[in-house]
Amino acid sequence: MKPHTALIMAVSLDGKISTRDGAGPRFASKADGIRLREIRSHADAILVGAGTIIADDPTFTERGKYKELRLQRGLAPNPIKAVVSGSGSVPETARMFQSNGAPALVFTTERIPPNRLAPLQQVAEVRCVGETTVNFRHVVDILGEAYQVKRLLIEGGGQVNFDLFRAGLIDEVYLTLCPKIIGGRDVPTSVEGDGFDFPDIVDVELLDRRAVGNELFLHYRIWRG
Ligand SMILES: NC(=O)c1ccc[n+]([C@@H]2O[C@H](COP(=O)([O-])OP(=O)(O)OC[C@H]3O[C@@H](n4cnc5c(N)ncnc54)[C@H](OP(=O)(O)O)[C@@H]3O)[C@@H](O)[C@H]2O)c1
Repeated sequence: MKPHTALIMAVSLDGKISTRDGAGPRFASKADGIRLREIRSHADAILVGAGTIIADDPTFTERGKYKELRLQRGLAPNPIKAVVSGSGSVPETARMFQSNGAPALVFTTERIPPNRLAPLQQVAEVRCVGETTVNFRHVVDILGEAYQVKRLLIEGGGQVNFDLFRAGLIDEVYLTLCPKIIGGRDVPTSVEGDGFDFPDIVDVELLDRRAVGNELFLHYRIWRG
């Protein structure tokens, strides 16, 4: 069965997800970090793009209260960690590949050169799911069928988010609107890619909104008409 798929992002008031110097989502507050941990504690697996791993180098390892919450919910102590990397640019030294008991997966394409495939196979389960671009429908199907993922959390970045929206695979969006202006035409936004033409833009329905300090915690579901 297809996993339920939620996307989570922190964005500045002008829609940016990083800063000009590539500092990632550090502009978000501690409260946003707590919200991320809470939402992660429901997820069987987390999926990100290679750009996010290269920029932010997350571990996806849970500790303390959030590990406890996962166990109470009948989940594994840590979520499955999956990265999309068509060319294999994700480094095998990334912290997500350090062992924490949860499987680490790389979804790649036939484009991956042997000198990238071999080191990644040493640290992760590598799955080829496309000729030149990763087929996200296959990714989601594999996670659901081979790894029994029921709740999948997408943590960016902008390119992966676009591909998943385009494939119609996102069910919910958690957005934190941060009271910051970042600017910069080359600084990534929450959804990149080629963009949509007017009739194809994605409609969302607001499920919940909460102001915490100067931030807005927003929760939407995708409106499929
Ligand atoms: N504010 C937030 O909440 C937040 C959250 C996450 C990330 N970020 C920021 O987002 C930025 C990264 O975003 P991004 O858009 O540059 O990168 P991204 O979406 O994280 O990753 C892009 C990479 O993923 C692979 N990829 C994506 N779609 C693919 C497809 N269909 N087929 C094959 N490969 C595919 C490619 O890897 P290969 O090059 O290996 O082929 C591509 O270069 C960073 O600055 C990070 O800090 C912010």
